[in-house]
Amino acid sequence: MSLTEAIAALKAGKFVLVHDGKGRENEIDMVVAAEYVKPHHIVTMRKDAGGLVCLAIANNITTKLGLVYMHDMIASMGKVNPVFSKLTEGRAAYGDKPSFSISVNHRSTYTGITDHDRALTISKMAQVCKKIDDGGVDDFAKNFRAPGHVPILIASKRLLQDRMGHTELCVYMMQLAGLTPAVALCEMMDSDTHKALSIEDAQEYADKFNIPLIDASELKAHAKVA
Ligand code: 5RP
Ligand code: CA
Ligand code: ZN
Repeated sequence: MSLTEAIAALKAGKFVLVHDGKGRENEIDMVVAAEYVKPHHIVTMRKDAGGLVCLAIANNITTKLGLVYMHDMIASMGKVNPVFSKLTEGRAAYGDKPSFSISVNHRSTYTGITDHDRALTISKMAQVCKKIDDGGVDDFAKNFRAPGHVPILIASKRLLQDRMGHTELCVYMMQLAGLTPAVALCEMMDSDTHKALSIEDAQEYADKFNIPLIDASELKAHAKVA
């Protein structure tokens, strides 16, 4: 399906599948706009995707929230214990540093992990992002706690020009859709091979449920990134 159909699906609160490319993770993430997330989305992500349900947010917003990368936080803990500095040495096999920041729960959650709780945390975080210049920062400080069960991913400043991760690909699509740039995503796993779901099997799933599957190359071309 085309990028136009993917954008339409996101605007309608539906899932899109995003493949980052063979030279990178070679994974397909199941993606939905954070502002539309309901418990049934979490059910589908944990049952049909099975990876880690995360929330990717645009850099201008995470900066206003004062969020920093987890690897920088752990590295700074090296002052307390050198093991922390060792832990952050090097990069993932495919070259990028992780986009992880802290994980959060909304204060109205109970354990934080249920479908209800994760949907609440994600949708309330989308509201924080939407009103970032109008009380969002205070809302975040007052109504969320960390650590929690929703890992936040910080998108690079210049998105695809800086990094070609699902974090940036998905936030870029939110921008194209004119939606709040906060997006829930989860890697699709294969319970038979115990590896990431192959692109062929992801395409089969996409066809079965009429979900657009977008490759990073299409977004790269759209963003005119070399
Ligand atoms: C979080 C991850 C996923 O790969 C997710 O897709 C975000 O990471 P990236 O931007 O590196 O693709 O590791 O579970
Ligand atoms: Ca990953
Ligand atoms: Zn990824």
